[in-house]
Amino acid sequence: MSDKRISDAMENALNAQMMQEAEQAQVYLALGIWAETHNYDGLADFLYKHSTEERNHMFKFLEYINQRGGEAKIEAIPAPTDKPKDVTDCIDTVWKHEVQNSKAIYALTDMALAEKDWPTFNFMQYFVKEQIEEENLISDLRDKLSLATKEKTGNANLYSFDRDLNNAPQDSEIALQKTLGG
Ligand SMILES: [Fe+2]
Ligand SMILES: [Fe+2]
Repeated sequence: MSDKRISDAMENALNAQMMQEAEQAQVYLALGIWAETHNYDGLADFLYKHSTEERNHMFKFLEYINQRGGEAKIEAIPAPTDKPKDVTDCIDTVWKHEVQNSKAIYALTDMALAEKDWPTFNFMQYFVKEQIEEENLISDLRDKLSLATKEKTGNANLYSFDRDLNNAPQDSEIALQKTLGG
């Protein structure tokens, strides 16, 4: 596709976000490996699936950049550095990454608005909504985990928390979703 319909600055920013999503996928893979090797199979399963979600996000950016006549550019991804101390630390790390990613998504949406690039603005709405769901999902996990560990009844609660994660959906069902038409 030769007719370019995004600015150079937008093409660069979209590419940066594409690599950010790829990095998130690697981070969750690494955290999943941590969980699996510490015998938290439910948490590992959740993180591996979430890694795939992030890779799908990466692909959405890739497709969009190319469709608008730009060119997606694959760069090197830094190795993940997070080394969780325990399950709480692991989930807190996921939370930190999601909040960071939301900020990047909002910055890109702001940029589309400033450039009056309505196709990109429209494209970004998917990710704005996705971040609402992901923040909600992880925040919910944090609440459950804090309940499971609060009573200090040993590892039994942590065990059920991990077992529950086996069935945790990747897309949280939220009331907002209905209002957003998802
Ligand atoms: Fe993502
Ligand atoms: Fe995410």
